[in-house]
Amino acid sequence: MPLKIIGTGSALPELVVTNKKLEQMMDTTDEWIRSRTGIRQRHIAVKETTTSMAAAAAGRAMKEAGVEPSEIDLIIVGTVSGDKHFPSTACEIQRELLMVNAVAFDVNAACAGFLFGLTIADAYFQSGRAKTALIVGAETLSKMVDWKDRGTCVLFGDGAGAAVVRKEETGILHMVQGSDGGRGEALTCENRPVNTPFTRESFARGELQNEISYLKMDGQAVFRFAVRTVPQAILQVLKEAKISPDEVKYFVLHQANIRIIEAVAKKIGQPMEKFPTNLQKCGNISAASVPILLDHVNKDGKLQRGDKIVLAGFGAGLTWGAAVLTW
Ligand code: UT7
Repeated sequence: MPLKIIGTGSALPELVVTNKKLEQMMDTTDEWIRSRTGIRQRHIAVKETTTSMAAAAAGRAMKEAGVEPSEIDLIIVGTVSGDKHFPSTACEIQRELLMVNAVAFDVNAACAGFLFGLTIADAYFQSGRAKTALIVGAETLSKMVDWKDRGTCVLFGDGAGAAVVRKEETGILHMVQGSDGGRGEALTCENRPVNTPFTRESFARGELQNEISYLKMDGQAVFRFAVRTVPQAILQVLKEAKISPDEVKYFVLHQANIRIIEAVAKKIGQPMEKFPTNLQKCGNISAASVPILLDHVNKDGKLQRGDKIVLAGFGAGLTWGAAVLTW
């Protein structure tokens, strides 16, 4: 596959909200959150927006890649929490960073959004439509969760991660992706209801104007899906690329729950040391989890040219994707 990651970047909101802080706000405990998920704190946007964090992460990725904004010819943002229905977050950051020569759009594949973005960039590269792409995952999930629902609001955080990818001979070796809309009810967030003079008497009464829907999750159903599907996707992508799991230096997984990561490690027979995590500090940031973690591992100086890395994301849709690459 003619696709190489040549720079990464990330951005997190300034405000850190610890489990202890949540204890004071709702009927939960630090012990419950840590033992069920591994999460100790999360960053929550106050001044930041999905667009501002996406732009900050993208700017850092371009700086590391040594790429000018005008060189970017494709911008894909994976997000389920853009600031606007339209324009897309991708078009918003295009304007902000003056990436005037790019085609820009968002992808809704939830927590697999970054992996789906990479796959689309690969198709653009292979068809000769683009040469240098910016792939971003950016979320402000704090505005999607019901802060009265302790079963979900403690899990998520805000942030953005980005990667610049270029058409090159080596880099991403293989990718797989999948969707199962049949099980989509496990994790949903409704849009605003249709509410016009033609559909509802309530419109005339002025009701429903402020009706907001929040993220709803059947946590155990998503957990079961993740521990079954993610190992399968990883083993499939490695098998098809003819690479043994033992050759992989790091498995950079979506950061939903430490117990999911431990189950994946066990199923593919690899030690936890190969699974870097930041969910303890960041919580689950949906499409941004994988690129933020990749950037943290990169900035920590843990990656050397030639290392084999697996990326894997999974979430609402249901959707999933895995990629194996040479750094
Ligand atoms: O990024 C998208 C992908 N999402 C995921 O991968 C999430 C996958 N699912 C999970 O990570 C886990 O299912 C959760 C962390 C969401 C929940 O863990 P669980 O072990 O499945 O707990 P549960 O939902 O079965 O809840 C167990 C108990 C319940 O009480 P009862 O009914 O046993 O009395 C809940 O009411 O824990 C209670 N509970 C809480 N207690 C304290 C739920 N949330 C909380 C809370 N604090 N925040």
